[in-house]
Amino acid sequence: MQQTLILLKPDAVQRRLVGEIVSRFERKGMRLAGLKFVQCTKELAEKHYAVHKGKPFYDSLLSFLTSGPTVAMVWEGREAVAASRSMMGLTDGAKAPPGTIRGDLALSVQNNLVHGSDSVENATLEIALWFQPSELVKFDNVDSKWVG
Ligand code: RTP
Ligand code: MG
Repeated sequence: MQQTLILLKPDAVQRRLVGEIVSRFERKGMRLAGLKFVQCTKELAEKHYAVHKGKPFYDSLLSFLTSGPTVAMVWEGREAVAASRSMMGLTDGAKAPPGTIRGDLALSVQNNLVHGSDSVENATLEIALWFQPSELVKFDNVDSKWVG
């Protein structure tokens, strides 16, 4: 079982798409392991997107992620990292295929609604950045034998 960090960025909250996007992860069969509603600080945004420091869009990206509340979640399941990335679609909403979160709901490159960890290693680091271990919950979904 893998875990991945999923963020519903401030545009998802402002556009009232939280339920729509959470529903897609539920319907996929993933298990929710953590969820919180947070105002991301500049410090946290800098750590989260440290890999993009120095890129032309970095300052704008930090302003975007701190511009309003974010829903931070940990989803768990078989191949959860890759499965989430394919559910999200390409970074640019205009190019993301229909059927994906960004392809169905976003047009912008920056305001693309959702973040998902891009590797198992980064998922571990990002989960530790956004969640205390005590904020993660373990339980058995009653339908897990049908989903896995
Ligand atoms: P994320 O990290 O948020 O899951 O997105 P990603 O892997 O698909 O894309 P990444 O290259 O890691 O970029 C991180 C976020 O920066 C914004 N961005 N803006 N203006 C631009 O050219 C540009 N490029 C990227 C997006 O919000 C992107 O999700
Ligand atoms: Mg990325």
